[in-house]
Amino acid sequence: MLARSLGYVAVASPDAKQWLEFGPEVLGMQAVEADAGTVLLRMDDTDHRIAVHHGERNRMLYAGWDVGSEDALDAAGELLRERGIAFETGTDEERAARGVLGFLAIEDPSGLRHELFYGQKVVPGSFQPGRPMSRFITGPQGLGHLVLATPDLKRSDRFLQGVLGFKKSDEIYTFIDLWFYHCNPRHHSLALTPMPGVRGLHHVMVEVAEFDDVGIAYDLCMSRKIPLSMTLGRHVNDRMVSFYVRTPGGFDLEYGWGAVTVDDETWTVAQYDRPSVWGHQMVAQTPPGALEAVTT
Ligand SMILES: [Fe+2]
Repeated sequence: MLARSLGYVAVASPDAKQWLEFGPEVLGMQAVEADAGTVLLRMDDTDHRIAVHHGERNRMLYAGWDVGSEDALDAAGELLRERGIAFETGTDEERAARGVLGFLAIEDPSGLRHELFYGQKVVPGSFQPGRPMSRFITGPQGLGHLVLATPDLKRSDRFLQGVLGFKKSDEIYTFIDLWFYHCNPRHHSLALTPMPGVRGLHHVMVEVAEFDDVGIAYDLCMSRKIPLSMTLGRHVNDRMVSFYVRTPGGFDLEYGWGAVTVDDETWTVAQYDRPSVWGHQMVAQTPPGALEAVTT
């Protein structure tokens, strides 16, 4: 097992500055303005969880997976070397920007960058939510989950399970196919959906501790006329009650509460033929804009 939890995710966007308002006022995150137009979003006492860098177009830049320790990162490097998988080592500047002590970066089969890191900076008591709320559920479960589009589901599946050490949670076959993976008790820290010739970040999920926080965020989206991509609903597999909002980063953000957790001792992998028990009506007319054509 390499990845232990989702530590951070970074995207590029021409509208990065909009997160200074959207992150705190709508989502309840803390926004910090960094160099070169970057906005860092905090969800807990960790340095940051989402980095939105200024860029010409919306796209995912990298996802950071906590391996737990320097020894574990060294062991990961050994394993990658033995298996002939190319990786880069984070520079001093990159480590400082991410707020971690060390990382290795590898590309998944679709060309998306994953960073295996240890030592994410935490300052106890430092998190200040952007509006009154309970809290985001993070800690050992990481920041939430990512859903990534991939042109080749089976190759990406082999990478996730064979290289990063994820375990399959379950599968949904509906108007799109989705395979779900966990690396800690969170039902899924990552899911894949196949899209021919396309890769990228479909959505990020963050989970809050109280259902009212979801309702308050929903109200704020309504009153500010922020477009939703899916209405409120409950997912069939992780039982999350959530809605999806289109963010200024092009990707969608699922804001949810009430998910089940996974215990490997008792968990069985199921296949479902629908995504939701109720709700989650699709309202967006287009897929999220942080997807990109695979040119290789
Ligand atoms: Fe999700």
